[in-house]
Amino acid sequence: MCGIIGYVGNRNALPILIEGLKRLEYRGYDSAGVAVLNSGKIILQKSAGRISALEHVISEFGPDKLNARAGIAHTRWATHGAPNDINAHPHASGDGSIAVVHNGIIENYSALRTYLKQKGVSFTSDTDTETIAHLIALHYKDNLEAAVRAALQDVQGTYGIVAVCAKEPGTLVAARNGSPLIIGVGRDEYVIASDAAAILEHTSQVIYMEDNEIARITADGFRTTTLDAVPVTKDVEEVEWTLDQIELGGHEYFMEKEIFEQPKVLETCLRGRLDLRDHCIHLGGIVDCARELVRAQRVVLTGCGTAWHAALVGEYLLEDLARIPAETDYASEFRYRNPIIDAGTVVIVVSQSGETSDTLAALQEAKQRGAMVLGVVNVVGSSIARETDHGIYLHVGPETGVASTKAFTGQVTVLTLLTLYLARRRHMSQRSMNNYVTALGRIPGQIDAILEQNASVRTIAERYMDQNNWLYLGRGYNYPVALEGALKLKEISYIHAEGLPAAEMKHGPIALIHEGMPVVFIATKGTQYGKIISNVEEVRSRGGHVIAVATEGDRDIAELAEHVIYVPDTLEPLQPLLTTIPLQLLAFHAAVARGCNVDKPRNLAKSVTVE
Ligand code: F6R
Repeated sequence: MCGIIGYVGNRNALPILIEGLKRLEYRGYDSAGVAVLNSGKIILQKSAGRISALEHVISEFGPDKLNARAGIAHTRWATHGAPNDINAHPHASGDGSIAVVHNGIIENYSALRTYLKQKGVSFTSDTDTETIAHLIALHYKDNLEAAVRAALQDVQGTYGIVAVCAKEPGTLVAARNGSPLIIGVGRDEYVIASDAAAILEHTSQVIYMEDNEIARITADGFRTTTLDAVPVTKDVEEVEWTLDQIELGGHEYFMEKEIFEQPKVLETCLRGRLDLRDHCIHLGGIVDCARELVRAQRVVLTGCGTAWHAALVGEYLLEDLARIPAETDYASEFRYRNPIIDAGTVVIVVSQSGETSDTLAALQEAKQRGAMVLGVVNVVGSSIARETDHGIYLHVGPETGVASTKAFTGQVTVLTLLTLYLARRRHMSQRSMNNYVTALGRIPGQIDAILEQNASVRTIAERYMDQNNWLYLGRGYNYPVALEGALKLKEISYIHAEGLPAAEMKHGPIALIHEGMPVVFIATKGTQYGKIISNVEEVRSRGGHVIAVATEGDRDIAELAEHVIYVPDTLEPLQPLLTTIPLQLLAFHAAVARGCNVDKPRNLAKSVTVE
């Protein structure tokens, strides 16, 4: 949610900043801007719309006249103020000598605005960020770092900021509180960004800034201190992602790429963890807390959106297979409802980005109440990964498509591994374990087989793309899959869709069903197969068109459904890993057919770092 990049070094800063913005565009894409330090002045350009619109503005301005060695840039997802040219970042002080980019929310911005107005400051935008630029200018004497430090004493809220000053043309000053910033360390140059994706092209050596830290960066080096000016020594770490992982690699959309790479990335997720020879599970991230986990009296899983759906699958797995009482809570609700958490409760926090603000707050709440907190996170070094007591990374590589796909299957895979590990330590027989381990090992290949049906799923999506209401129904392990399928469709195609436990349909939503309405049933063979077939009949008899996701070889369902998408047979608790795939494809093709920008759906941005 919003992307920041800053550069200081010996190369021309402008193209580096623009390329960096393109890598960050999935973080926010309603407006963008750049400020570079050129001949003792700050040159600032911004524009509503995509980065391409900003490039257009810059091309008219004549970028070849500039040869700046430092600058900052931003791509925005609006919080305060409409998405237009004026509200785009960077924001500058009245005399144009200070410019700042900001992620986060300044909570006391209204009071600061009043205070600054009393001091004679006039505002040009409706944003909270502009107050920071004016505050820094107010405190500036001859040292940008000192001015930023002083300004932040007055600020309440969350921020990741990078500031520049016309009088110190080779210096960037960055500060973090609740919004990530990573400093990429190159040779005689530094790239600072809110996300490693913007840095990888230049270096894989990074420093993660922590909350309440300030960094002063020049081409010759950097210095980090706390907000109270206590020096902090930082370790340089290696980012494990590679550049090709954040490129489209021949696909038109990142979402498509990420759907199709699931077999490969899930193999990586399982590697070294799923032991097919000895039929056991190794999870390095929980070695130090295994005893506590095995003895947990209760598990609470939390996350948002797709991660919440994965957590719900986790709840079903933990209760069914490990026999540990488990419940799933929306991270956004968790801390506001006085949850019962004690030392016997383990809280599992599920997040792709590791930066979702509600999830981070739930984590902090759980820790404060004395729970052991375990992270199931994709982004290494992210805030959630750093704040949890223990964790298991997904290792599915960077997810750039705004609609989460491979992260969901990665989260479910990790929660399955964890459940099996705990189940075996608690009571599961080795014989059962053998079956689960073997079945889990087959999942990547089975996903490959489902992906081969891409063309026929596209045909179904194209047939129903004009229908504005869809239902997704599933039972047991496939209920969270129904929720996830519906979410995918709505977020990228703007079709209204609802996911429900199939039996709940009779208690109200059945009234929605009309002739030709698409109803997606996840109706694989399992304990509740007979029941879901009855629900299929109920929909059919009211004229609904059934699209069934069914187990290979099930000919009976083909008699009832308009369309059947087959998935290979597997053990029932592993079915979500397979049944999700056709629903991802269905949503993707429906959105493409409707002419939607799949990777940049309206109003959305990857990683929601505001409450
Ligand atoms: C949906 C989607 C969101 C995220 C949610 C949590 O496709 O991507 O619902 O799942 O915002 O994000 P993370 O997992 O980064 O905490």
